[in-house]
Amino acid sequence: MNDDYRERLDFTVALAREAGAYAHAQFLKLETLTVERKGHQDMVTEADRATETLVRAALARRWPEDGIVGEEHARVHGTSGFDWVIDPIDGTANFVSGIPHWCTVIACCKDGVPVVGVIFDPCTGELFRASKGGGAYVGEKPLKVNAATSLSEGSIFAGVSGKSDPKVAATLIAEILGARSLFFRAASGALGLAYVAAGRLLGGVEDRMNSWDCFAALLMLEEAGGRHQGYPPGSLDTGTKVVAGGPGVHDALARIAAKVYG
Ligand code: IPD
Ligand code: CA
Ligand code: CA
Ligand code: CA
Repeated sequence: MNDDYRERLDFTVALAREAGAYAHAQFLKLETLTVERKGHQDMVTEADRATETLVRAALARRWPEDGIVGEEHARVHGTSGFDWVIDPIDGTANFVSGIPHWCTVIACCKDGVPVVGVIFDPCTGELFRASKGGGAYVGEKPLKVNAATSLSEGSIFAGVSGKSDPKVAATLIAEILGARSLFFRAASGALGLAYVAAGRLLGGVEDRMNSWDCFAALLMLEEAGGRHQGYPPGSLDTGTKVVAGGPGVHDALARIAAKVYG
């Protein structure tokens, strides 16, 4: 593994743990937080903003030449070729409802390509991590995508959100059920894709994921032997359709996505 990535990976693991623990402390006193609505089923709390501020401050101290993109604050352009991509709380809809399924996500890109990705779920204590060429792990266990060759062998992460066209979302669910599979949707796209990398889910589809939702998990998926059609390198602050899965089901999922989204 590239030594620079090792240093960044170790730093990111520690920072994701610290930021996730901070967000979790807010989660434990949820009734004191003010919830603002940005859109349909798209909420933000001061915990989201403060957690991102904590992450940004630590990154700016350690790598002041790097760029930073995050969900809750303005983009900072860097000069080093490295950019950090942060989602302080992925699964805010769960967070504000007291549902213990959300995570803190930090990825690092070199020239727009993810090279380090960490997802920390403070409610279970699971930490997923990957570096380009260095493998992917949950805790100390290597991640490996599911070996299934048919969608009927397990469940699919179905990324439908408040932003989705209801009819298109219903068609996606119908296609997944029509393939004799089941759908999984638990308000955190990052954890959904991490579960694909871990082989817990066979694959995942979402029509519009932001870089901060998916970059860390897509690197994990690549390192775990999976395939995806996703981000064009360099699109750090735009959304993209994501189709991800084990090699045995990826093409079948891509056909479903093409049929559903056109
Ligand atoms: C959302 C979650 C959700 C996905 C949405 C995202 P947030 O992120 O990842 O699963 O369907 O597209 O915006 O707002 O909880 O960080
Ligand atoms: Ca959000
Ligand atoms: Ca998110
Ligand atoms: Ca978020």
